[in-house]
Amino acid sequence: MKTFPMPNTDITAPQVVLGLMRIAEKSDEEIRTLVRSARDAGIDFFDHADIYGGALHRCEERFAKALQLTPVEREEVVIQSKAGIVPDGPYFDFSTEHILRSVEGSLRALDTDYLDILLLHRPDALVEPEEVAAAFDQLHASGKVLHFGVSNHTPRQIELLQRHLDQPLVANQLQLSITHSTIISQGVAANMQGLEQSVVRDGGGIVDYCRLHGITVQAWSPFQAGFFDGVFFDKPEHAELNAVLERLAEEKGSTPLGIATAWITRHPAQMQVVLGTTTPQRVTDAAAGADVELTRPEWYELYRAAGWLVP
Ligand SMILES: NC(=O)c1ccc[n+]([C@@H]2O[C@H](COP(=O)([O-])OP(=O)(O)OC[C@H]3O[C@@H](n4cnc5c(N)ncnc54)[C@H](OP(=O)(O)O)[C@@H]3O)[C@@H](O)[C@H]2O)c1
Repeated sequence: MKTFPMPNTDITAPQVVLGLMRIAEKSDEEIRTLVRSARDAGIDFFDHADIYGGALHRCEERFAKALQLTPVEREEVVIQSKAGIVPDGPYFDFSTEHILRSVEGSLRALDTDYLDILLLHRPDALVEPEEVAAAFDQLHASGKVLHFGVSNHTPRQIELLQRHLDQPLVANQLQLSITHSTIISQGVAANMQGLEQSVVRDGGGIVDYCRLHGITVQAWSPFQAGFFDGVFFDKPEHAELNAVLERLAEEKGSTPLGIATAWITRHPAQMQVVLGTTTPQRVTDAAAGADVELTRPEWYELYRAAGWLVP
């Protein structure tokens, strides 16, 4: 597993991490097997959120109960969680009170004294950066959160927050798969009148912005065709992409899942792939994919096969 020093942290981070959004209904043994397959593949970085699992903190609780980490085992892993979504609205809440309450709930559910990283889950239209700063200062000073980041944020939203924060924002978790790659494809087709791909959706240049500022991009839903509508593997509407994935998998002794992972890890921004699978073999295959080297022509071939234009 490729690792990299995560900028502005003391973390040596794997390029593939395990997301636990889908474990609510899994048994303790299934969760242990899933996590063991991740650890065996070099994945020691786990992504949570307060809202995962239907009821608040449900997946965090399931993870902690199944694993029962000793203090030494806890130190060996990176646990990241998120706050800021109120599903019962739904609305977003970046107030000091909400952030602090959410983190307390996560610490209780995860049965830990600290989060390695806390992300603000989705931008709050009513964000008051001073409120976020007050929460982060308290959490940092008390040792309850070591590092902070955001998710689904634009460059300007990050700048607004960062201007008021003493702590650097170290990660931005964004949706990215070969087929759902607006954060990359817009830049490739910049300056093309009348082309849908050229439309700026992410504040423009979010990947470049993150690279410029040492903010690690974490790719969520790395195999979903669109927004939670199933993976692109074996889908007739993505026949051309699947043909290329299969051919490259054959040539490189990998799997289509491995090649789809390599497509993200090949990007020089050193992005992290946030897996959502609950199938241990898929974790193993994806992790192995991070070690597959794709050439520039191969990377672009996959990109074009997914339907993106190279003008
Ligand atoms: N920041 C955000 O806004 C945000 C939003 C969504 C998710 N996330 C994070 O990103 C993680 C990944 O999201 P995701 O679960 O949507 O991503 P994903 O890895 O693209 O999708 C995983 C889902 O696809 C299924 N699947 C079916 N065939 C598959 C195959 N051949 N290979 C791999 N998976 C296959 C998996 O089923 P099986 O379990 O049966 O394998 C699982 O239900 C989440 O766990 C969460 O941590 C963040």
